[in-house]
Amino acid sequence: MSQTKGKILITGANGLLGQSVVSIFTRESDFHLIQTSVEDKAYVDFGHTYIQLDITNKEEVKKIVTDNKPDVIVNCAAFTDVDKCETERELCWRLNVDAVKNLVIAARPHGIKLVHYSTDYIFDGKNGPYDELAVPNPISFYGRSKLASENEIFTGGIRFGIARTMVLFGVGYKVKPNFALWLVDKLGKNEAVNIVDDMYGNSTIVDDLAYGSLKLIEMEREGIYNLSGRDVESRYDFTMKLCEVFEFDKKLVKKIKTKDLNQPAPRPLNSGLITLKAETELGYKPMDSYESLNLLKYQLTST
Ligand SMILES: NC(=O)c1ccc[n+]([C@@H]2O[C@H](COP(=O)([O-])OP(=O)(O)OC[C@H]3O[C@@H](n4cnc5c(N)ncnc54)[C@H](OP(=O)(O)O)[C@@H]3O)[C@@H](O)[C@H]2O)c1
Repeated sequence: MSQTKGKILITGANGLLGQSVVSIFTRESDFHLIQTSVEDKAYVDFGHTYIQLDITNKEEVKKIVTDNKPDVIVNCAAFTDVDKCETERELCWRLNVDAVKNLVIAARPHGIKLVHYSTDYIFDGKNGPYDELAVPNPISFYGRSKLASENEIFTGGIRFGIARTMVLFGVGYKVKPNFALWLVDKLGKNEAVNIVDDMYGNSTIVDDLAYGSLKLIEMEREGIYNLSGRDVESRYDFTMKLCEVFEFDKKLVKKIKTKDLNQPAPRPLNSGLITLKAETELGYKPMDSYESLNLLKYQLTST
């Protein structure tokens, strides 16, 4: 695929990852981009074509993919509210699994590659951090739906890249609150927060994930890649670093245990993703938490 001629169709382009993929691919590559999402207009506008597309609509997906024949589809659309997935199971499955099947079916006849995103929630969190060969065992409905989405792709007869990531954070227009932004909001107002110290993983700034995705496409790689941040640490330790970077009062942060939150969906506790494969094969260079939090601070203060 020639870089100047390659065409990439992005679904869920108005979400946190979608916006970052659009802006980083625009800046760092010559791919021709087609942005799509459920809303009637693009949230980030660099002059690319925008098409309204609900990926749960099989016929619409087929028509838009067939009309535009991209080389690659990057699927940034998903039902990402883990607790809501536990209670709104039908909706969760329709978007996280059935819609992915729609993309697979639309991509197959044209030899289109699908880049898709998955999560550490496909694991039970008993013995993380996990590499790409670790055996999944999801403990939440969201995790089951994301694992099922991977399986739709594995068995779909298409070329694919699956990027597994976790605790995504970053800025964007109208993006849903993420862990780091929520902390900045609360602590910035001098409000106390209760943070779990028994949940481990590597938080990921969305820019890293978008850059890793671009490398995966440019280097024409296939298969599963863990694309997450560098530091595996507890949510509490991450919050302490955030306090240092943003100069917030650490005394506002109280340690609690995950079970005290009584969340509808169980969480993998001892989690995390090993990024060695992506570092070795893609030249992926994940930021450590201080670097990513400094970038977040810069992004928040420069907008
Ligand atoms: N966020 C995390 O911590 C995290 C962790 C691990 C993996 N991931 C994975 O990373 C990927 C991107 O997540 P994200 O945080 O960027 O999610 P996000 O901000 O929720 O973005 C998802 C986007 O998909 C759109 N969408 C919803 N229904 C749609 C439909 N039927 N057709 C087309 N678009 C639709 C959403 O629009 P509305 O906002 O209007 O609904 C939203 O703009 C997902 O696959 C997710 O599972 C995320």
